[in-house]
Amino acid sequence: MTQAVSLDLGSRSYRIEIEAGLISSTPKLIAPFLRRQRVYILTDEVVEALYVDDLSSILVEAGIEVAYLALPSGEAEKNWSNLIRSVEWLLDQQVERNDLVIALGGGVIGDLAGFAAAILRRGVNYIQIPTTLLAQVDSSVGGKTGINSTQGKNLIGAFHQPSLVLIDVDTLDSLPERQLLAGYGEVAKYGLLGDEEFFWWLEENGPAFASGDEDARIRAIEWSVTTKAQVVEEDEREGDRRVLLNLGHTFGHALETATGYSSRLLHGEGVTIGCALAFELSARLGLGNREAPQRVRRHFDRMGLKSRLSDIPGDLPSAETLISLMWQDKKVVDGRLRFVLPHGIGATFVTDEVPQAELMGLLNDHLGAKL
Ligand code: NAD
Ligand code: GLY
Repeated sequence: MTQAVSLDLGSRSYRIEIEAGLISSTPKLIAPFLRRQRVYILTDEVVEALYVDDLSSILVEAGIEVAYLALPSGEAEKNWSNLIRSVEWLLDQQVERNDLVIALGGGVIGDLAGFAAAILRRGVNYIQIPTTLLAQVDSSVGGKTGINSTQGKNLIGAFHQPSLVLIDVDTLDSLPERQLLAGYGEVAKYGLLGDEEFFWWLEENGPAFASGDEDARIRAIEWSVTTKAQVVEEDEREGDRRVLLNLGHTFGHALETATGYSSRLLHGEGVTIGCALAFELSARLGLGNREAPQRVRRHFDRMGLKSRLSDIPGDLPSAETLISLMWQDKKVVDGRLRFVLPHGIGATFVTDEVPQAELMGLLNDHLGAKL
C-alpha cells in the first residue's frame, strides 16, 4: 500500500509519501529538489548504524554524492552545542542555498536539522526522512523546527517547512517497543483532539498496529498526517487552531522538564499522561464529558501506554513546582496559562480559565497516588 498526503501552503507546499521500503526510492523522489547531485545528511548515531549505509549506497548508485554528520542520540542533545556543530559542519561542507539537507532520524534530529537548515544562509532546502513513529506522524510535518533551552522545551526555533517528507514504515521495525508506543500516543492524540471516528478505528485496530500490521500502520500514519496537514494549512504559525495539536502538552512539557529530558520520560509518554490529565481536568471542571477520561485510559492501558504520574519512575517535584514549569509553555499569553481541553473525544477547545486550585487538586491527587 502506498499513500501520499499533500500539504498545501502555496509556494511552500509539499508532499508526504508513505510506503514500506520507501527509502529505496529516495533518489527518484528527491530528484526534483536537487540543483547539484549532492546531499548532506544529518542523523544521530543510532540511526547512523541502522540506515545511513543503505541510504548512502542507494544515493551513490544513483550518482548523488553524500556527506553526513551523526550526532549523539537523545532529547538532551537537542541543544545549542549540537546546533552549532551542525551549522558549522554544513558550512564546512560549503553547502549552498539551493542544496538539499536530509534530516534522517527521529524528532530530535528532524527539529535540530530543520532549524540548522532554517538559519543556514537564511534558509536552505531540506527534506525529512523520519524514522520514529512520533516523527512520522508529527514532528516531520508542519515546519516547526528548534532546540530546547535549559528553561524549557523547544523555546528556540523557527518555522521552516521541508520540501518533502518520506515516511518509510519499515523503519518502525527496528524501533524499540517503548519508542513505538510513545509515538502511538501522538497517533491517539489526533483521534482525541479532532476526530472521534479515528479514535474508534484505533480502539479497533490499535493492537494490529502495535503488532506490526503494515496496512494498519500505513492507514494510521496517513490518517494522522492528513489531520495534521489540515490544521497546518489552516493555521501554519499557530495563531489559533494549531494550538489544538498541543493537547496534553502543557502537562507533558512540564513533566519532561521535571524529569530533565531523560529516559525517565519520553516526549510521547509525557503527551499520553498529559492527554489523560487534560480529560480528567476537563471533567472535573464540568466542561468535559464525564465518561471520556475512563474511555481514554481504557485504550491507553490496553495499548500499554503511560497515563498516570505514577507511571513515571522516580520522584517528581511538588504540584507547585510542576505548575511553575508550565509557565514556560509557549501557549502562555498575556500572563495566563492556556490549556487545550476536551469537551469529549474528538472535540477540543482552548481555555485560559483553569482555576489554580483545580489544577493543584488534580496534580496533588495524582502525586498522592504515586507515594
Ligand atoms: P528521538 O529523535 O530522540 O528518537 C528516539 C530514539 O529512537 C533515539 O534514541 C533515536 O536514536 C532512536 N531511533 C530513531 N529512529 C530509530 C529506528 N528506526 N530504529 C531504532 N531506533 C531509532 O525522539 P522522537 O520521539 O522521535 O522525537 C521527539 C522530539 O520530537 C522531541 O524533541 C519533541 O519536542 C519533538 N517534536 C517536535 C514536533 C514538531 O512539530 N516539530 C512535534 C512533536 C515532537
Ligand atoms: N506538534 C505540534 C505542532 O506541530 O504544532
